[in-house]
Amino acid sequence: MNYAVELMNVSKSFKSKNTTTLALDSVHLKIQPGEIVTLIGPSGSGKSTCLRTINGLETISSGQIEIFGKRYTSQADAHLLRRDTAMIFQKFELFPHLTALENVALAPHLRLSISKHQALSQATELLKKVGLSSHEGKYPPMLSGGQQQRVAIARALAVRPKILLCDEPTSALDPELVDEVLELLKSIAATGMTMIIVTHEMRFARDVSKTCHFFDAGRIVESGSTNEILSQPKSRRLQSFLSSLKESLPEN
Ligand SMILES: Nc1ncnc2c1ncn2[C@@H]1O[C@H](COP(=O)(O)OP(=O)(O)OP(=O)(O)O)[C@@H](O)[C@H]1O
Ligand SMILES: [Mg+2]
Repeated sequence: MNYAVELMNVSKSFKSKNTTTLALDSVHLKIQPGEIVTLIGPSGSGKSTCLRTINGLETISSGQIEIFGKRYTSQADAHLLRRDTAMIFQKFELFPHLTALENVALAPHLRLSISKHQALSQATELLKKVGLSSHEGKYPPMLSGGQQQRVAIARALAVRPKILLCDEPTSALDPELVDEVLELLKSIAATGMTMIIVTHEMRFARDVSKTCHFFDAGRIVESGSTNEILSQPKSRRLQSFLSSLKESLPEN
């Protein structure tokens, strides 16, 4: 059986005038269909870059990516990766000049060649699923952060992805809005969707994912069951990362 996602020795460097940043350094990653994995690690460790290469938003410098057994290596392949994947971003990235309904209907109409009428009726269903029926006609600036992220989740589901990539989906939200988005993501996870989630919410990581990978300086330094990664970290770097998170938590 093929993996849903397989990264083989993937490296990605960003070159600017005087500097080269090795954002991903020989990353190996295997994700089974229907598996939910979380990626954790300090800022700048390569988590977003990893998701972006899987989504074809970023080309890789070396290595190979397979999505359901299909291999992608060249720059020309990058856009094909997006056929099976959809991504949810920290800052929602909705189109501000389109209503919630239009945001959800746009990509299926353009990408899947679904008629506008069909795309709109599917969007209505999806907005119902994420609990936003009464907000269909609103523009993103008229919605709370949690509502905007739920529209973004509906939009991601609208292209019928096989793999959902979530890049810190709750870190731009006010604390009281975090739970509504996490609950929605948990309910999507329960449908058997393959999901890769970058998160700083360790309790959510424990709830939603059996497997967790810890990134540091572009490498996956430690992988394993989420419970063990979070409660019995082996490497020094993971131990110090987890204790730095505890220090940043408020008392009580
Ligand atoms: N487009 C880019 N151009 C140049 N450097 C980049 C680019 N995107 C990312 N980088 C660099 O690659 C490294 C990994 O960045 P990445 O955004 O993947 O980290 P991250 O783990 O997602 O961090 P955070 O938790 O802050 O979101 C960083 O050093 C970053 O500065
Ligand atoms: Mg990031």
